Amino acid sequence: MSDNNNIPDWKADFPIKKREAGYVSRREFVKVVTLFSGLLAFANVFIPVFNYFHKKKVIKDYFVCFTDELEVGQQKTFYIDGDHRNPYMLIRMAKDKWKVFEQKCTHLSCGVIYKHDENLIECPCHHGFFDPENGEVLQGPPPRPLPQLGVVVKENRIYVEEYAYQKKKHHKAHHG
Ligand code: FES
Repeated sequence: MSDNNNIPDWKADFPIKKREAGYVSRREFVKVVTLFSGLLAFANVFIPVFNYFHKKKVIKDYFVCFTDELEVGQQKTFYIDGDHRNPYMLIRMAKDKWKVFEQKCTHLSCGVIYKHDENLIECPCHHGFFDPENGEVLQGPPPRPLPQLGVVVKENRIYVEEYAYQKKKHHKAHHG
């Protein structure tokens, strides 16, 4: 028995008076708010930690190939840091003119092809065409330009200038 106005314990725990019932629901509300605040506090700590371990990795001057590996008008597919999900194409537009684009079409990810004689990059799947100067869409269904990377030539070596990507594991570099 409770010593508070002779109210039995079961009644104190399960009040039937409206005013007390309201107090219980407020107490429940405070519990929910406290739980929610706890989750927010957890997220505040967890998200920066998650981002720290999944931060973007930046590669500078990634070696692609030697200049004599491509004739004018040719292209070469390569992968940065072994990431085969993202093929890139190096194209040699003139003796001293090199460009690098993502090789996946921005429509449905088909592999695009450099057409030197027509001064185009073509997607054979649905006849999308891109400008090899800047990757802009010239014609067809692709919704966006081909992403382009900067190229640096040092003596007889071709490098991708700077490349940032999100990756969990570090793979051995692979060119192909
Ligand atoms: S996938 Fe390239 S135009 Fe459709």
